[in-house]
Amino acid sequence: MNISWSECLCLILLLLQLTTVSTLESFEVLGPAHPVVAVVGEDVVLPCYLKPNISAVDLHVEWFRVQTNNPLVHLYQDHEDRNENQIPSYRGRTSLFPEELRNGNTSLKVKNVKGSDNGKYKCLVQSGEFFDDSSIEVYIKAVGTQPVISTEGYKEGGISLVCESKGWYPQPQVVWMDSEGHSLPAGHTETHTDSMDLFTVRRRVIVQETETNRFTCRVLQQQINEMKETITNIPGEMFHCAHPWKVIFVVVFTLAAVCIIGCTILLHRFVKRRKRRAQLKEQHGELEEQHGK
Ligand SMILES: *[C@@H]1O[C@H](CO)[C@@H](O)[C@H](O)[C@H]1NC(C)=O
Ligand SMILES: *[C@@H]1O[C@H](CO)[C@@H](O)[C@H](O)[C@H]1NC(C)=O
Repeated sequence: MNISWSECLCLILLLLQLTTVSTLESFEVLGPAHPVVAVVGEDVVLPCYLKPNISAVDLHVEWFRVQTNNPLVHLYQDHEDRNENQIPSYRGRTSLFPEELRNGNTSLKVKNVKGSDNGKYKCLVQSGEFFDDSSIEVYIKAVGTQPVISTEGYKEGGISLVCESKGWYPQPQVVWMDSEGHSLPAGHTETHTDSMDLFTVRRRVIVQETETNRFTCRVLQQQINEMKETITNIPGEMFHCAHPWKVIFVVVFTLAAVCIIGCTILLHRFVKRRKRRAQLKEQHGELEEQHGK
């Protein structure tokens, strides 16, 4: 084997060139190791970057939603943002970090987070024929308002209470409980979404009189580990009105008692008077007898 110095040098140069070409054309797109938690109304950064950290200024950077028909969230192409076909709900809310692009940082900033931003995203970076992508899971979180309990009046022999809380994401559960924390059988939970895609929940319960007359409405979201509850105290008298027959019973009973007492007194007086009259008659008779003698 006889390799000349010039041949050897050529080989080395060729190898060097191959490595440079490959580093220019291939890279990895990396995202966060864990899901990103975003709070409704705040801004969030969805991390995405290239390894090695070559500049992405001249590359094609595309952010899109997974499992949607028209999924574009943000597109950077030919050195500018091209968002004409972006999902309308993202309009004016997305941006890359222009200063960071040259370090291979293709993270996306989403402003004023909405409930509908929840879900899986992909960050795709393309250089000529080569591309790679990375998935980013986004969990949206919104803690709703303190539940409000209102009384709806008498229903089915009890008092109907309704509990409402607004502004939750994801959808929370509503539980009605007695003062000992036992859950009460309640109606189904009514759910609505507002303009920010947040959940309003409402649930009714019909309560009966208890020892404490204290009832709790608890709204909880286990995925985001949040809970809010409100306690209400119902005055005992309200329950008596819930049972009209009870009131009637009390009234009838009282009237009856008054009658009985009244009659007894009258009867007593009548008997007394008759006795007295009989006595007087007797005395009178005795006197007449004496006169007659
Ligand atoms: C990316 O490369 C630049 C130099 O080109 C360096 O200053 C910077 O620290 C690198 N960033 C990362 C995240 O490695
Ligand atoms: C990319 O840029 C954003 C915004 O400046 C920053 O928060 C993030 O840490 C950067 N990521 C990397 C990997 O440098």
